[in-house]
Amino acid sequence: MIDIQSFSFTYKNEAEPALRDVSISVPEGGFLGIIGPAGAGKTTLARAVCGIIPHHYPGDYYGRISVGGLDPVEASLTDLSRLVGLVFQDVDSQIISTMVEDEILYGLENFGIPHAEIPERIRLALAQAGIADLQDRTVASLSGGQRQKVAIASILALRPRVLVLDEPTGELDPVSSRQVFSLLKQLRKEHGVTVIVIEQKIMLLCEFAEQLAVLDHGAVLRQGPTREVLAHAEELLALGVNCPRVTTLSRLLSRRLGRELPVCVNLEEAEETARRLMT
Ligand SMILES: Nc1ncnc2c1ncn2[C@@H]1O[C@H](COP(=O)(O)OP(=O)(O)O)[C@@H](O)[C@H]1O
Ligand SMILES: [Mg+2]
Repeated sequence: MIDIQSFSFTYKNEAEPALRDVSISVPEGGFLGIIGPAGAGKTTLARAVCGIIPHHYPGDYYGRISVGGLDPVEASLTDLSRLVGLVFQDVDSQIISTMVEDEILYGLENFGIPHAEIPERIRLALAQAGIADLQDRTVASLSGGQRQKVAIASILALRPRVLVLDEPTGELDPVSSRQVFSLLKQLRKEHGVTVIVIEQKIMLLCEFAEQLAVLDHGAVLRQGPTREVLAHAEELLALGVNCPRVTTLSRLLSRRLGRELPVCVNLEEAEETARRLMT
């Protein structure tokens, strides 16, 4: 569904490339997590996948990207936005309306969704984002977390086949963060939606993502199945990227005991490993 080949990008008037020779592919219905330190190029990659690079951000562009068969350079932003929905890292730059309902409505009207369908789309998107009760509120009266959910709902209402979420839980508490990830899982399962999430909450990300890509200085340092990437916990920690605590602990124990223990990515696996060590 998403195929990025040797992609490099340098923002206009910048000396250093923000992305260097990035090659990543995500199958239809796949779930890719992107991690890396600040300034690694994660947001730039999200912008390139949904076409706002190069359409809104000029610069030097090399390599090839294909999203659902569309080339973000050649396709119009209108066609791209029907296919790919991006939830911005900075939600306040995404939200343009004064009222919550208008924010959801705006995209639907732009897409020419038949009027008869609109109320149900709004209702469902708000319910999926867990904010059915906020429909008649002003955006200004909401907390940061509630605004984040409005931004997510406004994208969900458009029902894109590809969802790119740039740190979508930055303002959310643990319960709401998990709800967002559970919803993404459901959208994949029931509708084959392809998901890319950039996320700092690594434990949560690792529980849901099949594949991880680690970016550093604009390049892919490592990518592969989540568990394989996490096996390099020391490398991630050296970059300043958190690992799930149970993963770090299992790697540390592996080294201390001088014997290869399984890579634990959740509490159940850590418990199982601990039990085996004790018997
Ligand atoms: N609009 C922009 N114009 C110029 N440089 C930018 C712009 N956005 C990001 N950059 C630069 O590109 C690099 C990668 O940034 P970004 O993609 O935001 O990283 P991340 O999301 O991983 O923190 C950084 O060096 C950053 O300063
Ligand atoms: Mg970013």
